Amino acid sequence: MATVLSVSGSPSASSRTGRLLRHLDERLAAQGHRVIPLDVRTIPAAALLGADFRHPAIVEAAELFARADGVVVATPVYKASYSGVLKALLDLLPQYALTGKTVLPLATGGSTAHVLAIDYALRPVLNSMGAAHIVQGWFTLDKDITAHEDGSVTVAPAAIEALAQVVDQFSAALGRTPHLAAAS
Ligand SMILES: Cc1cc2nc3c(=O)[nH]c(=O)nc-3n(C[C@H](O)[C@H](O)[C@H](O)COP(=O)(O)O)c2cc1C
Repeated sequence: MATVLSVSGSPSASSRTGRLLRHLDERLAAQGHRVIPLDVRTIPAAALLGADFRHPAIVEAAELFARADGVVVATPVYKASYSGVLKALLDLLPQYALTGKTVLPLATGGSTAHVLAIDYALRPVLNSMGAAHIVQGWFTLDKDITAHEDGSVTVAPAAIEALAQVVDQFSAALGRTPHLAAAS
């Protein structure tokens, strides 16, 4: 069993990215992983924007990254890139916070014009933080995600099928993490 930190990088209170991610968390949990959700928007803005490395919420986030075997990083595409709040958090983590970790990058966006934002914007940052293995990511169009008032979410069939595949590839890659493979 792997510990997976599932990070939503949206600042929005009604985030489609967050809803989608929590839906995917259930699939990972059903596969036996321990999933820990982290919504960047819950971290105090003063800590993020004031570069307060010692703020308890930043220290706690850094510990969650350190303890995780795998990290899912999901972001809305804003201005052709990942969100500013996600970058604000990543900037406050140790340089090599992703060393030895398997990472699944995900994005949601309004236009297929930015479908490659994961690869040209997010992936290099994750790489610079030492990620051992960044598996294939996925971009989901916002119109394929319907958030309901009760907190649930509906995802268009083609999109959920593609997402299920990348989540399962991530899950399989976690199983090949050396210390977890040795334990099983
Ligand atoms: C400030 C802002 C900038 C955006 N810029 C882009 C963009 O450059 N490319 C794109 O495809 N979608 C863009 N979008 C659309 C969002 O990426 C999309 O609606 C996403 O699913 C929102 O996720 P969220 O609800 O988790 O914030 C933008 C939305 C906002 C609010």
